[in-house]
Amino acid sequence: MADKLIVFDTTLRDGEQSPGASMTRDEKMRIARQLERLKVDVIEAGFPASSNGDFEAVRAIANAIKDSTVCGLARANDRDISRAADALKGGHRTRVHLFLATSPLHMEKKLRMTPDQVYEQARLSTRFARNLTGDVEFSPEDGYRSEPDFLCRVLEAVIAEGATTINIPDTVGYAIPELYGEFIRNLRERIPNSGKAVWSVHCHNDLGMAVANSLAGVKIGGARQIECTINGLGERAGNCSLEEIVMAVKTRKDYFGLELGIDTTQIVPVSRLVSQTTGFVVQPNKAVVGANAFAHASGIHQDGVLKARDTYEIMRAEDVGWSANKIVLGKLSGRNAFKQRLVELGIEMESEADINTAFLRFKELADRKSEIFDEDILALVMDEAVVTEHEHYRLLSLAQHSETGERPHAKVAFAAGDAEIHAESDGNGPVDASLRAIESKLATGAEMLLYSVNAITSGSTESQGEVTVRLQHAGRVVNGVGADPDIVVASAKAYLSALNKLHSKVERVAAQG
Ligand code: KIV
Ligand code: ZN
Repeated sequence: MADKLIVFDTTLRDGEQSPGASMTRDEKMRIARQLERLKVDVIEAGFPASSNGDFEAVRAIANAIKDSTVCGLARANDRDISRAADALKGGHRTRVHLFLATSPLHMEKKLRMTPDQVYEQARLSTRFARNLTGDVEFSPEDGYRSEPDFLCRVLEAVIAEGATTINIPDTVGYAIPELYGEFIRNLRERIPNSGKAVWSVHCHNDLGMAVANSLAGVKIGGARQIECTINGLGERAGNCSLEEIVMAVKTRKDYFGLELGIDTTQIVPVSRLVSQTTGFVVQPNKAVVGANAFAHASGIHQDGVLKARDTYEIMRAEDVGWSANKIVLGKLSGRNAFKQRLVELGIEMESEADINTAFLRFKELADRKSEIFDEDILALVMDEAVVTEHEHYRLLSLAQHSETGERPHAKVAFAAGDAEIHAESDGNGPVDASLRAIESKLATGAEMLLYSVNAITSGSTESQGEVTVRLQHAGRVVNGVGADPDIVVASAKAYLSALNKLHSKVERVAAQG
């Protein structure tokens, strides 16, 4: 039987470190459930010692998830490790992931420790972790830029102390595929007890080679775990993208000869969920999950695909979860049909009351929009979840007037807790006027870092607009997302949703020490 390749998803930890991608506990839980449905082997749910919010999120996910191992990150010190172990306590299958920098640059400038001190700390903290749990992963941070002799010494010691997975991060995305693969092969060959651990790759995408480097780590280096994120989310240029590496290993099984446990039909739904939750839009030409990934514009290609699909297609759209903008429901659809579609889309509602609320919203939408697509339902449910989770601010009504040659004017009514606030303002355009009206009453002073509008479904001006607003205030960056057939309304919803996140004061500290 072919070897198994372990898929370790770190969207909720490394992905979340991307500025503006920070998620609430409930958002993380929703994504974790979808990752479980995708059948990833390991879900890295967060960094419990970094904040109480992350601790609680890891705890909730460890308790809820049964089919994937849930992992918590920790710096290599007793406090962090105990926090991670506490958060994971009671989980079905759990892992503690320790990291400590081993490159000369990081040891000297960041940690201000000698190599001998780092060696000792790595050894003792692995021992400490192994006394708390049987599944321990060790990552030498900036491993790829570390001295091979020193790295061999450290890794041999941590395996002897019981580390069960050894991960080699290319923390700054500096590697080249062949060199990274050989680096790992060399370590595995030189370390006498290397066979006692599973070897793992963790690549960042600064030079656009995270997927290629990870594949080389697997093929040349013999790694059997890949660390990756949905949509390649992550700090700077991001991490190795799950959908790309999974489909590469699956499509080229003839070359890699590896088994995967992933249910690839869940890839597109989870990609959408992550994009809608974080506000990080997927570029149309992104492999596998981009809107154009399976679109054939040229006549020659279309003709070829119609005659024999594999003339121009190496993967089938339905195998990765594309449902081709299916018209699923309309104005006449009943509650049962709506509920059934939620199940098919993998959306779990907590109670019948939540389904009723979502169904009412669906009916309102169906009155305004004749065709309701899967994407509309996902946006509606996301919007609903955002509203009910942090409902301090809520849009009640919006009216705006714009005319060629006139300065647009908007009147907005919104709830702030129990109060109802009415505001109005002029602006450069109707969106500007609406957001200025809100700001004229709240005076948050938040700086807008991003405003983007996307059509939820392509091909018609009847599509709902999905607006993402990224705000920065007092050192925090948050995203708000709003959807509506009227993009001015969607913008006001997105703005209020971002303000709700700022208002919720979810604490978070930089994850890497
Ligand atoms: O990139 C990195 O080095 C990391 C470690 C914490 C594994 O994310
Ligand atoms: Zn990383």
